[in-house]
Amino acid sequence: MPRSAPAQRPLKTLDRVLSKAGAGSRTEARRWIGAGRVAVNGKVIQSPDLWVDLERDQVTLDGRPLKPARRIYLLLYKPKGYLTTYKDPQGRPTVYDLLQDLREWVFPVGRLDRDTSGLLLLTNDAQFAERIANPAFKVPKTYLVKASTYLTDEQLDRLARGVTLSDGPTRPAQVRRLREAGGKTVFEITITEGRNRQVRRMVEAVGSKVLKLVRTAIGPLAIGGLPIGGWRRLTPEERRLLVPAPPANRRSSKPHPAPRSRKRRPPKTK
Ligand code: URA
Repeated sequence: MPRSAPAQRPLKTLDRVLSKAGAGSRTEARRWIGAGRVAVNGKVIQSPDLWVDLERDQVTLDGRPLKPARRIYLLLYKPKGYLTTYKDPQGRPTVYDLLQDLREWVFPVGRLDRDTSGLLLLTNDAQFAERIANPAFKVPKTYLVKASTYLTDEQLDRLARGVTLSDGPTRPAQVRRLREAGGKTVFEITITEGRNRQVRRMVEAVGSKVLKLVRTAIGPLAIGGLPIGGWRRLTPEERRLLVPAPPANRRSSKPHPAPRSRKRRPPKTK
């Protein structure tokens, strides 16, 4: 059970597992561990730095299993002009200003630029967030785009085939022309990555500019009739559609798909 490195598996140190489960602070958790009150899979562990696999290992405090923190999954219609960070040094509005009635702590699943509106998921479930945001899992994200110029079929084809950006070629995308309006093209694009300003940079790579960008769907989940700035909880069915549970027999031997990992940085102010 003891492991040397977190790799791609859902591992956390024992003291963190106790504090995340709401049992107490990490300092308290370290004290309990030192006092021999904590067991992992039935064995008393006195090292707070042990890596624990949240999907496999049974952690008990004084013989009682930890109660996991209640998982929360929200869908927010982010308005243009809001940041996906918690606090902005310049005092600009953030998505947390729209969640003031919410008691629980949540974080955004991936990011949307300040000038992008649309569907943003927020949760306190790190594994769920990873399954949606890590490009290795190829979860499709759909955007409605208004480009500053008329885009020819050839330009739209290039977007669909993939263009080369400063951080490498983009994966093939699905592109659908919707309408022309005053010399501008409105189209829909579905991508399976989530690089910084990806859609804006793709459109620039074919010689145009994004005037308006709205994320309309993540996988099978669409923004629907939610008002701009409004939020609601996901239903259990929506959650399952987004991240289906792995088959039971795979869970015991290989509980987590092991895509190539991507370095994650804290959200930047945009
Ligand atoms: N692509 C962008 O350019 N911006 C976003 O916010 C999301 C995708």
